[in-house]
Amino acid sequence: MPRRFHIETVGCQMNVLDSELVTASLLAAGYEAARNRREADVVLFNTCSVRQHAEDKVYSALGRLKHLKDQHPHKIIAVLGCMAQKDQAGIFKRAPHVDLVVGPGQIGRLPLLLAQVAAARQPLMEVSLGRRAASRAEVEQSFEAYDPIRIVQARQSVHQAMVRVMFGCDKFCTYCIVPSVRGPEQSRPFDEIESEVRQLADQGCVEVTLLGQTVNSYQATAGGRRVGLADLLYRLNSVEGLRRIKFVTNYPRGMGDDLLQAVRDLQKVAPYLHVPAQSGSNAILKRMKRGYAVEEYRQLLERIRATVPGAAVTSDFIVGFCGETEQDFEQTVDLVRFGRFKNSFIFKYSPRAGTKADELFDADVPEDVKRRRNNELLAVQNAISQEENEPFVGRAVEILVEGPSKAAEKQARQGSIVQLTGRTACDRIVVFDGDPSLAGRMLQVEIESANSFTLFARPARRPGTA
Ligand code: 5AD
Ligand code: SF4
Repeated sequence: MPRRFHIETVGCQMNVLDSELVTASLLAAGYEAARNRREADVVLFNTCSVRQHAEDKVYSALGRLKHLKDQHPHKIIAVLGCMAQKDQAGIFKRAPHVDLVVGPGQIGRLPLLLAQVAAARQPLMEVSLGRRAASRAEVEQSFEAYDPIRIVQARQSVHQAMVRVMFGCDKFCTYCIVPSVRGPEQSRPFDEIESEVRQLADQGCVEVTLLGQTVNSYQATAGGRRVGLADLLYRLNSVEGLRRIKFVTNYPRGMGDDLLQAVRDLQKVAPYLHVPAQSGSNAILKRMKRGYAVEEYRQLLERIRATVPGAAVTSDFIVGFCGETEQDFEQTVDLVRFGRFKNSFIFKYSPRAGTKADELFDADVPEDVKRRRNNELLAVQNAISQEENEPFVGRAVEILVEGPSKAAEKQARQGSIVQLTGRTACDRIVVFDGDPSLAGRMLQVEIESANSFTLFARPARRPGTA
């Protein structure tokens, strides 16, 4: 009987992509997807370490599995990804019923490791070297590259896919665990990315999102010369069948004019830039070791507006970082007002063991202050998002139809007209009623109303009708 697996994912898009690749490798090894944890022979958690909350979620899910494991001792429980790399054998201590711990740099060997665990019937751990445990080359090698052949069955959508262009991060912002758990910055070869995107387009994929922790630091050689993200965008723009290219996440200092010009000039590249600022206060930016002053970030915003008019810019902010005063916070509010971001992701600072901030600074902002600042900043951002969405009302926009909204998935299977979602080139969510078979098409729709998160469009005609 084939073995059945169930994978649950927390965290960023890189994790969603890793889970897709793991799913593909397990299907190729003869496993079948189970509907839930109970029915699965192998339960996998692909984990995140960026904030405490993401870890708590996984540990409590693991706790709830103890009973099931007692009843079914042959069930294999595996913890993958960033938390596996961060906590390592500590996971077995907190959850002794876990069988397998696999870092993000070893997930390519998962089918093999599962077979080993099943045969030996004892716990197994495979993780990468720590950043200072060996030479850079050795540490790099211990984060094994993993980007296999893509298969449609493993993806959420036939029409959209993520493509890794880089592994790891070398920026070492003081609050951030990512450089430790995802390893040194390494770019994938230019031609390999291109052939993966061509393959995806051949499979019917119309939109790719290029992924890297600092995607605009991409560096490789092609045709004997150094190439960067802008060159990659030029190359991918000519892939037949592909309609839209996005890339996340950008590091502010790497936002060169060549990249902005590529976004302006290339028809398939979405005018959408996610460039996290993290704070509007120079004292805080310095303590975060972000490598820029707020004035430079403001100049970057002006450069974006001048070069790519109408581009949507989005940002991340951390509130309540070590030593953040009310004045520091007000400067962040000012930056949000100035930036007029399409939206911002706002996080309360979460101390991470193993980071410089945790070692050097006192996490002195109380939880209730963090919460208030979070809510205040969110309210300012939401008002701006609403104002930025309103001009779309009455306008026709081109969207890529993604498919039925979450609420309408069941009806969609019955073939009726349902609520669909799509996105504009500038990454705005559009909701409208239409035929589910429109999924994957580019469509002109007219916007009728807007709130701060969503544009609402007029119902679309059935495909094929004049
Ligand atoms: N606490 C809170 N937020 C964090 N981020 C990264 N590390 C932390 C932390 N320790 C946020 C940053 C980053 C986003 C992915 O997560 O804003 O851009
Ligand atoms: Fe973390 Fe900074 Fe690297 Fe982003 S750039 S992953 S915030 S260390």
